[in-house]
Amino acid sequence: MEVVIVPDAKAGGELIAEAMAQLLRRKPGALLGVATGSTPLPVYEALAAKVCSGAVDVTRARIAQLDEYVGLPADHPESYRSVLRREVLEPLGIGMDQFMGPDGTAEDVQGACEAYDKVLADAGGVDLQLLGIGTDGHIGFNEPCSSLASRTRIKTLTEQTRIDNARFFDGDIDQVPHHVITQGIGTILEARHLVLLATGEGKADAVAATVEGPVAAVCPASALQLHPHATVVVDEAAASKLKLADYFRYTYANKPEWQGI
Ligand code: GLP
Repeated sequence: MEVVIVPDAKAGGELIAEAMAQLLRRKPGALLGVATGSTPLPVYEALAAKVCSGAVDVTRARIAQLDEYVGLPADHPESYRSVLRREVLEPLGIGMDQFMGPDGTAEDVQGACEAYDKVLADAGGVDLQLLGIGTDGHIGFNEPCSSLASRTRIKTLTEQTRIDNARFFDGDIDQVPHHVITQGIGTILEARHLVLLATGEGKADAVAATVEGPVAAVCPASALQLHPHATVVVDEAAASKLKLADYFRYTYANKPEWQGI
């Protein structure tokens, strides 16, 4: 696992957008796995700026969703499909025909989960999966003690996650669904490159457990330690509880530039 400590969220966004751009220059039809939440927004802004300036062409890029609320109509403004359309697809000029995501409104939820794993496999797998992290260490919506081998399935949110996400629902926790569909940890680990971005002091404990704690289902993001190409990008505040922070700074500063992340 590589840990890159950046000065701020904007620098993290720029670094990851450049990694996505490099991937797309190499593989124009790459499948990018994207996450919701506030953290990844600087990545999408930086990537959209590169598209605008002609630094990268995304006309053949494909986008895959990480997780979804169960029961919210697809056109609800806070369904993750709507959020991604607004924050990723429209700014990049990518059409819904190049988008794949689970159906949060399916009557047969389990069937929809299995179908989505198949869609991802049939698409050739995710090339780069961008991840945020919950304050409890969750990735996607894999809450603590999710199986590290899990596939896409239904999960019940913890109360803390519903409290954290209430800000997107007029601050009203009662509007936050209890159930979600999420790519499983085993599914996420199949992506070729995992890039986790964490910013702010509120993520410092989760980052320390992810990077320096044991691989343990109680901290789902710690599963990144099992992946051959995982990059954790953190700002100074999110890195503040890392014991090896100086080592991570030293190794990144001395890395050959051509290697990228
Ligand atoms: C939600 C999403 C996660 C995201 C997390 C953190 O739970 N399902 O994918 O990582 O929120 O969000 P934020 O970046 O806003 O802190």
